[in-house]
Amino acid sequence: MNHKNKIAKVLSLTAGLLFSASAATLTHAANFKIAVGDGAGGTQHELGKTFVTELEKASGGKHSAKLFLNGQLGSEQDTVNDAAIGTLDFSILAINNVTPFSPSVGVLTLPYMIQSLDDAVKLTQGPVGQELVENTLRDAGVRIIGWAYSGFRVLTNSKQPVRTLDDLQGMVVRVPKNEIMIDTYKAWGINPTPMAWSETFTALQQQVVDGQDNPYITVYAMKFDEVQKYVTNIRYLFSIEPLIVSEAVFQEQDEATQQAILAAGKAATEHSAKWLVEQEDAIKKELATRGMEISEPANGEKEWIEKATNAVWPKFYDSIGGKKKLNEVLRQLGRDEV
Ligand code: MLT
Repeated sequence: MNHKNKIAKVLSLTAGLLFSASAATLTHAANFKIAVGDGAGGTQHELGKTFVTELEKASGGKHSAKLFLNGQLGSEQDTVNDAAIGTLDFSILAINNVTPFSPSVGVLTLPYMIQSLDDAVKLTQGPVGQELVENTLRDAGVRIIGWAYSGFRVLTNSKQPVRTLDDLQGMVVRVPKNEIMIDTYKAWGINPTPMAWSETFTALQQQVVDGQDNPYITVYAMKFDEVQKYVTNIRYLFSIEPLIVSEAVFQEQDEATQQAILAAGKAATEHSAKWLVEQEDAIKKELATRGMEISEPANGEKEWIEKATNAVWPKFYDSIGGKKKLNEVLRQLGRDEV
């Protein structure tokens, strides 16, 4: 089944579930299931734990939820499909794994678009974020109710220090199945290997691939320091990890439960931004203590930035909603229009 047909099938199933759900909204206590792509100790885990505590509080102890870490409930992209058809309640995953289901979300993964935590918060919690929530609901049948902020995705590998694009040549780098990220590495001169997140640790361990990119906190939560030695502080993508709820499941809930879910998502989001600031430096130091060798990209990352933005941005104007939309986003960040 091609991608469009698959989405159409998912949406029609969702519509069916919504219809049957509207006949009788759930009023009994629920213990929801939350899929989490990463391991314990990362921002996804922290967002999930806070969400559960806040949900219990906001629902007066009536509802709770259980976290299934390390992709136990399937690859991150599979969990979007499962939530869309209502066989999974919630998932916490990287935004780059939502983009294939709702392309306008790609504006958050354009290389070098988000340049700080402040940018990430401004975009996700302002009008841009609201529009992306609506688009994701329309395109993928899932509702984004919270955001975790994980910091810049740094490049790790097991072969050698990488500072220049020359150093990168010949390296086999795993990327998510995300066109924008694949094209970014192509602009840097290599053909990356698209692979599900749930398969990445084993592929690094068995040296099927030499490297990957993810934030320090994720590298730590996934124990990548056991299989990767070198880190390059590139800043091409600021990782954002939404908490999604199946719209079918959401619509099955009574009004009070829906409000409790939304309030818990909001509280967990606020906590996530603070947690990143408190944790990131300490985790980076801990990874260095464990033997990871950290390099800065040469010349302030100039060649990486130029190659990626020149080749990748124009290619995705249409899928993110047009150049006008992109300029709206840039204006909100106080940046020059293109
Ligand atoms: C990925 O690389 O597929 C994701 O960013 C991993 C994650 O969810 O942390």
